[in-house]
This record gives sequence, structure tokens and C-alpha cells, in this order.
Amino acid sequence: MKKILVFLTVMLMFSVKAQEKTLAPTPPMGFMTWNYFGVDFTENDIKTMADAMVANGLVDLGYNYMCIDDGWQGGRDNKNNIIADPKKFPSGVKALADYLHSKGIKLGMYSDAAPLTCAGYTASLGFEEQDAKTFASWGVDYLKYDYCGAPSDAETAKNRYKKMANALRKIGRDIVFAICEWGDRYPWEWASHSGGQLWRTTADVRDKWASYAPTNKDLHREGAGIFDIMNSNASLSGYAKKGAWNDPDMLVVGLYGKKGPSGDLGGKGCTDIEYQSQMSLWCLMAAPLMITCDIRTMNEPTRKILTNKDIIAIDQDKLGKQAKRVVYKDNWHVFLKPLANGDYAIGILNNADETRTYELKFGEIGLKGTYDIYNVWTKERESSLHFIKKQVKSHETLVFRISK
Ligand code: GAL
Repeated sequence: MKKILVFLTVMLMFSVKAQEKTLAPTPPMGFMTWNYFGVDFTENDIKTMADAMVANGLVDLGYNYMCIDDGWQGGRDNKNNIIADPKKFPSGVKALADYLHSKGIKLGMYSDAAPLTCAGYTASLGFEEQDAKTFASWGVDYLKYDYCGAPSDAETAKNRYKKMANALRKIGRDIVFAICEWGDRYPWEWASHSGGQLWRTTADVRDKWASYAPTNKDLHREGAGIFDIMNSNASLSGYAKKGAWNDPDMLVVGLYGKKGPSGDLGGKGCTDIEYQSQMSLWCLMAAPLMITCDIRTMNEPTRKILTNKDIIAIDQDKLGKQAKRVVYKDNWHVFLKPLANGDYAIGILNNADETRTYELKFGEIGLKGTYDIYNVWTKERESSLHFIKKQVKSHETLVFRISK
């Protein structure tokens, strides 16, 4: 009898587990306000950006979160409920959420595990349950939770994140929880246990290629470029899996040195080759894809980079593996990402200052035999090869999907 009871309990546990929903089964995609707007936006800006997401086909491609970063808050009311700035959101967040939802877009909001956010607005410490309820009542689907103004030790971070994650789970709405403590406390080791579906791994991205600062601490000071962030995030591939993602920060594609947060610390802008590289590297690394340029006015190269179905498919692949960096020498970086249907994605980055040729023999990276090769950017196809030999421009990342 006892054995049967134990057996039944175990079965029950398994079935509850099986029913548990994976909140971010693939890396979240969408738009985030920070780099373009800073703290200067209104509900109308959000709506027009959302309209442009629909009009440009981005929502259909999977960019289905509109994330409102820091600067939306207007303090607390006399019952301590957090409120949005009524000047920025005259119709209220609920009405905005309804608008977005009617267009197939989910709403992301932002808060911080301290009394005030990084930009000095009202945050959630001590009000976790109350704020979680408010967010749910508005229809929020994603919460980016920052760490400015909080103590530097990892234990406090783990507890504060867990507290908010528990509050979100308790209200029973599916709200993705995005941990943002910039990689300073090795969140890849604990963020999942603290209830996060993704966690920032580095200092804030700036609109530049590289500062080559050696540590994350230096990158905070000198500004982290696309290459710097890739270089840190690449070594964390073992921590990413379905529902638990390394977040190397937002896409700077299409910003072209715009003044604002990403324009600070040397963020003078990148070339289209470098922007395409960011998209390539982020997709190989199964990163969340948060656009931050002005979708309403984006130029053709930007549109092409952001809307390439084949590169997005590599990011969103159901297997949920982050590419491993399998070659790292002479300014060459080669990435290998296994895909759900048995194909592989391969990325080749040339980080030298001049165009060079690379020959990758598949045998060198553990792949046997020959493959059919599809270049996801040029759409060229080649069949039955046991190598890829290509010219790669400075800072360019070529991406191939190879299949048997
Ligand atoms: C930073 C965060 C940025 C942005 C900013 C808002 O800590 O890394 O992504 O959210 O705060 O103040």
C-alpha cells in the first residue's frame, strides 16, 4: 500500500511538472524603449512604434514584445500602488496593454530591486507583491527587473530576484521575468533558480564595435561594444537552454550613433556590416532580440538585417542551444549551433581590420562527411562539401545553415 502511495505521488509530481509552462521557450523578441527614447516617451510613441512593428511585418516574424524600459513611473498613489506618469500615459497602462494585445503584441515593463530605478524613478523593493498584482491587472506580460541601488553581494541579489519572481508566480499570470544585474554576480549560475527566464550577462551595450576592455568592470566604465559583449557571452553557452537564456543586451542595429544611452561611452555608431554581425552573433548565441532603433523610419539595410527569416529561425530554433565558439584564434571566431532538425548553424567572424579568407574544414570541428551549405545572408547554396572557404570582410560574420 505504502509503495503504491509513493508511486502515485511521484506520478502526480511528474504530471504537475509536465504541465508547468515554459515561459520563454525561445528567446523573447521585440522592441525595447531604452536606447532610442531613454526616459523620454509617451503612450503615443509606444503606440506608433507598435503600429510600425505590425506594418513592417516584425510581429509576424516573432518580434512580439513591446518593452517599456525605465522612465514610465509616476510614483505611488495614496494606497501605495505604483502608478504610471499621467503625463506620459494619459490613458493609463491598461488601455495601452489592451491596444498592444489587440495587435498581437505583448507588454513588457521595467522595475528595480531597490527603492529607486537606475534613472531615479520609483521601484519595487518592499512592494513586490503589490506591484506584481498591479502589473498583472494592467496586462503586463514581461518584467525587466534591474539592480541599481541594491547591495553588491550575490546573496541579496538572489533573494531580491526570487522575491519578485515568487510574487509574479503567485498572481498566476504568465509574466516573463528578465533579470538585469549586468552579469556582475555571475547570474548564469543562479538566475534560473531565482525565477528568471533570462538574465543579462554584461554591462550595457553601446553603439560601437569594441573597446576591448578586459573585464566586465572595465566594460562598465569604457563602454561595451558588440564584439566585447559577444566575447563575454560566448563562453556562457553551457548555461543557456529552453526557457533560460543568456541575455547579451539589446540590438543596436540601425541606431547609427544616435545620442542617448547607447551613444554614451564611445557609442559613435557602427557600419551596416557590424550591425549585421550583431544580428548574426546574437542569433547564433540564442539571445533575446530586442530592437531599439526607430522602426517607424528605419532604412533598407536595417530592415533587411532585422527581418531575415533564416537568421531569426536560427535564434528561435526549438532545440534552444546557444552556439559554442569552436575556433578562437588569429582574430577568427567560429561558432557552431546544433539545430532541432539535425542541421547546424555555423558563424565565421573576422575580427581583423582587413578582409581575409577562411577555410573551415568540417572535420576540424567534429562534423563528419559532407554537407549542403546555405548562406543565410546571400541565400547562396552549395552542395556536398566537407568545408567552407570564404572571404570575410573586417568585422563581418558569415552565417551558414548546413544540412546532410
Ligand atoms: C540599466 C540597464 C539598462 C536600462 C537602464 C535604465 O541598468 O542595464 O538596460 O534598463 O538601466 O535606467
